[in-house]
Amino acid sequence: MNRIKQTVFLCLISCIAASITNAQPKTIPQKVDALLKRMTLAEKIGQLNQLNGDWEATGPITKDLGNKLDAIKHGEIGSVLNIVGVKHTRAFQEAAMQSRLKIPLLFGQDVIHGYSITFPIPLGEAASWDMPAIERSARIAATEAAAGGIQWTFAPMVDIARDPRWGRVMEGAGEDPYLGSLIATARVHGFQGKGLGNLDAIMACAKHFAAYGAAIGGRDYNSVDMSLRTLWEVYLPPFKAAADAGASTFMNSFNDLNGTPASANRYLMRDILKGKWGFKGFVVSDWGSIGEMINHGYVKDGYEAAEASINAGSDMDMESRSYINHLAKLVADKKVTIATIDEAVRRILTKKFELGLFDDPYRFSDADREKRVMNTPEHLEAARDIARKSIVLLKNEHNVLPLSKDLNSIALIGPLVKAKKEMKGFWSLDVGDESQIVSLYEGMQQAAGKTNLLYARGCDITDTSRAGFDEAYKTAMQADVVIMAMGERPDMTGEAKSRSNIHLPGVQEDLIKAISATGKPLVVLLMSGRPMVFNWTADHVPAILYTWWLGNQAGNAMTDILYGNYNPGAKLPITFPRTEGQIPIYYNHLNTGRPAHADNDVNYTSAYIDLPNSPKYAFGHGLSYTTFSYSNLKFSKKSMLKTGSITVSFDLQNTGKYAGEEVAQFYLRQMVSQPVRPIKELKGFQKVMLQPGETKTITFTIDKEKLAFYNDQLERITQPGEFQLMVGSASDDIRLQGDFQLL
Ligand code: BGC
Repeated sequence: MNRIKQTVFLCLISCIAASITNAQPKTIPQKVDALLKRMTLAEKIGQLNQLNGDWEATGPITKDLGNKLDAIKHGEIGSVLNIVGVKHTRAFQEAAMQSRLKIPLLFGQDVIHGYSITFPIPLGEAASWDMPAIERSARIAATEAAAGGIQWTFAPMVDIARDPRWGRVMEGAGEDPYLGSLIATARVHGFQGKGLGNLDAIMACAKHFAAYGAAIGGRDYNSVDMSLRTLWEVYLPPFKAAADAGASTFMNSFNDLNGTPASANRYLMRDILKGKWGFKGFVVSDWGSIGEMINHGYVKDGYEAAEASINAGSDMDMESRSYINHLAKLVADKKVTIATIDEAVRRILTKKFELGLFDDPYRFSDADREKRVMNTPEHLEAARDIARKSIVLLKNEHNVLPLSKDLNSIALIGPLVKAKKEMKGFWSLDVGDESQIVSLYEGMQQAAGKTNLLYARGCDITDTSRAGFDEAYKTAMQADVVIMAMGERPDMTGEAKSRSNIHLPGVQEDLIKAISATGKPLVVLLMSGRPMVFNWTADHVPAILYTWWLGNQAGNAMTDILYGNYNPGAKLPITFPRTEGQIPIYYNHLNTGRPAHADNDVNYTSAYIDLPNSPKYAFGHGLSYTTFSYSNLKFSKKSMLKTGSITVSFDLQNTGKYAGEEVAQFYLRQMVSQPVRPIKELKGFQKVMLQPGETKTITFTIDKEKLAFYNDQLERITQPGEFQLMVGSASDDIRLQGDFQLL
């Protein structure tokens, strides 16, 4: 090359290089980097600060930031929670558009089981064991919430809960890591739909990371002390599933875990979530939880709290104002690096870009769409469907159910017969129209045809007056069948709603006894957000339905079941104890060295001398109006290598008169293992619809993943040896079993 050519060539190269450097950022990471370069430290810290709107609050609201809209205009707030509706969110977004860099706000909300239409509480939906239905419920909630200006839900709650005293059991999927993981996945997919950027997709938030459900004594916010092996084996799997499903955000939790508050838990956030699991979203603290580390005694003031949290990986501070008040000084004092701040801001901005908010900050603010999308007939139909699928038939002796359509009269008795708003349960939003909620009474009025409906309230939920008993008794005496609607108040489960006594409250069980004395066929519907204790009812009343809080379509769903227009197929996702003294109680426990072999086997066994070990209703229990038989268990082979698999099959037949669905459950046990393994663990299930007389062959594949567990070094391993496979209708109703070997 001669000199001139060489010079031209070099010019060309440097021109191309210059044009690349000056090019408009195209990808989201490039856009985020470009924006970060323009941001002052104060603006960056603003992005990490989330404050409450002017709606409901679940903790103290600190007032020291003055007017919120002004703070937004100054770039001091990156996200607002607890404001809903296009009008309100738009007003806040308009303020953000007056800030120097016009970075849009994120609006977060607890869309836990529905937005305008309320679906069953999550624990109720979990009882459906129906992943498409659960996903659809979250999908509809997201569609409505997004139309109402929300881009982020603080759900799903994926905390495993083995203690029904804990009020927040209502918010999760129950006690089982396998079922909980599938439900976590379904909910994340439901909320996020086809992905952020679509107008009906909102960010999911897996919470509360981690182990919040294991609060000692079932007392909310209490400490958690557990082995890391239990953490990995039982409590982390649903979080991992949520992360794998693409959950955009995680929320940490109020509890300390083995002495370190979750909000400053580097092991959880840096090592596991952002490290091992490669999570690319951001972590928000729980409400005020960063500041609460002062009460924990983990740090002495807000300055230390902010330092501990940001360095441990909490990206956004919900309402404690520790970040906005202290991060700048922490950076000046070299306690927190700019790189740490940038990393947190980058994660948050990335989500804002993915949501399309930089293209159009008002894309979730369309008032017409808001009107159009809510409460559509399809949404209501879906709500009725999942509500029916959530109702558990605990007991049905003498075929009291389904009700005949030819009854002369039915007495409806109890404090929850006419309840409407209550049907929504805790963590529901005051967005929808209350008149659209269907009470049991209204559902029955629609469905009862010529049957005369009689009503008496009988008693209150918690009040102990028996003044209404006589009238209720007389009303029952006039009817062919009595239906009682009893339970808790919806505000008796939920956040900060732990109970030491989980019996059916007040004098309700006495009213059930009084009505039962009429000798009339009796059905009791129990409404609650947790497993309750109701032994007399369980032992004496022929038909019991557990209906949780079913949401808008509660009354229709209950009557669908009562009349057999829908055959119940739900199964308990959590164990029901006989009494509080058995708690914590869960099916997948270890065997111990002195297992009790029967409920009365108390001779130096691991048992109570005054109470059987078995629960009142076991995990996986739930009846149908039809019956199912299990037969013909076959193994494709009786041993496998780690790299191989075994296919198991059996025949499931509907042996009754009604078409119905059965959730056939597969449990495994490794007989000898170090460390020891539980007596059974759910490893699969299939929900199968069968016509009367119909038989289907069900298959289940056993592979390495189903046999793996965490050893003491927290490595996921398999160990050769003998396994037992159990197939059944509930964890305590095993119909088929067989052994195989892992070589
Ligand atoms: C709860 C969270 C909730 C947050 C915002 C907290 O008190 O623990 O689950 O998302 O409040 O409402």
